[in-house]
Amino acid sequence: MPQYEKILLKNMEQPGYSGSLQDYERTGGYQALRKVLKGISPADVTDIVKNSGLRGRGGAGFPTGVKWSFVPKDHPGPKYLCCNADESEPGTFKDRQLMERDPHQLLEGMVLTCYAIGAQTGYIYIRGEFRLGATILERAIEEAKQAGYIGQNVLGSGLTANIYVHAGAGAYICGEETALLESLEGKRGMPRFKPPFPATHGLYQQPTVVNNVETLANIPHIVTRGAEWFASIGAPPRSTGTRIFCLSGHVKWPGNYEVPMGITFRELIFENGGGMRSDSKKLKGIIPGGASAAFFTEEHLDVKLDFESVAQAGSMLGSGGVTVMEEGTSMVWAAMRLMEFFYHESCGKCTPCREGSSWLLQTLQRIWARRGRAEDLDMLLDLCKNIEGRTICAFGDAEVAPVVSTLRYWRNEYEELIREAEVTRPAKGEIPVFTH
Ligand SMILES: Cc1cc2nc3c(=O)[nH]c(=O)nc-3n(C[C@H](O)[C@H](O)[C@H](O)COP(=O)(O)O)c2cc1C
Repeated sequence: MPQYEKILLKNMEQPGYSGSLQDYERTGGYQALRKVLKGISPADVTDIVKNSGLRGRGGAGFPTGVKWSFVPKDHPGPKYLCCNADESEPGTFKDRQLMERDPHQLLEGMVLTCYAIGAQTGYIYIRGEFRLGATILERAIEEAKQAGYIGQNVLGSGLTANIYVHAGAGAYICGEETALLESLEGKRGMPRFKPPFPATHGLYQQPTVVNNVETLANIPHIVTRGAEWFASIGAPPRSTGTRIFCLSGHVKWPGNYEVPMGITFRELIFENGGGMRSDSKKLKGIIPGGASAAFFTEEHLDVKLDFESVAQAGSMLGSGGVTVMEEGTSMVWAAMRLMEFFYHESCGKCTPCREGSSWLLQTLQRIWARRGRAEDLDMLLDLCKNIEGRTICAFGDAEVAPVVSTLRYWRNEYEELIREAEVTRPAKGEIPVFTH
């Protein structure tokens, strides 16, 4: 792996770094804000971010500066920034660390973004279970207010940037940006039709930018060190910067690893993660980008961790959650466990997702309970085809990914379970005898 410098986790990995305002300032914190307020226009800040090539770290990978530029400049009413801190994708746990260990990095990114898009109010929509993160952020907002970095007349510049923490109630769908906005408005978290997009009709139908925690935490560094510096890191031109990958599953050292984009899965798993937890077991499967991403196999170990390479190989970088599974793991079981999650979390607004997740789960449970039939496999694929692309939000596409990809790579495991069912299935007319 090439030598590289961490950007986002650098401060917090220093011994004794507490994440306090004092510590953050000591490492150059809030200098980007001072620099901008001394005379860089909002349009120039947006251009810097555009030229850096930064793409959203929440899942879809949309170019951040481009998103900001969609916000109308001459809008007469309020505009909003929403930080997406819902982080509910199974296998993803980086935003939590960023908020708990270096909250001012995120807050500075948010004030800079408010300045760039002309918003006076920013909300951090934080996952309900992250009580510690919410408390730490609230304390940090108070500190930053006292120091004049947040609130009215920021550093005497006339800029108003108020930031509030809003805790969700623990629903995965509220991470989807429009469901997040609904929830923030006090309604039930369900996605909205797009268009119109939040950039023009977002919170309270006002222009709104929704960005992920990691995306926003990058902003101060880009402003301080320049677009060119950021654009030279990782796998330019389309996957610039570092990325925090959340490595979990059957590896020796699970955890968050910040690495330049473009390293391979092999490097992440075997160098950063120390390899398989048991030396005698080979790697069998990888979820490359959170539970919504299609599975990879050991054949994909040399795929590069950048947006394009992972997409070309048939999956997505998604939220950065890399889950590793060893030999001996049943992939039917893995798909079933993921489907339990998706079935539980489907908001119910779209019929294909609401009903389809239930059908998929019941069919997987039947196969796992050795009661499946040969025709179930085609039915699973047919169900997936009728869900994918037919829902308001990307939840539908997410829930079919584990089923379609495990059937693609490990169909034999499904067939094996169905063969076991055939051996024990009573013949037609025969009265079944249950022994347990
Ligand atoms: C079902 C679903 C759940 C999502 N959950 C999250 C989440 O927890 N955090 C997040 O940042 N983005 C999540 N997203 C993506 C957001 O809709 C949105 O693309 C993102 O917040 C935009 O920020 P970014 O451009 O900085 O990535 C989710 C999307 C879907 C479809």
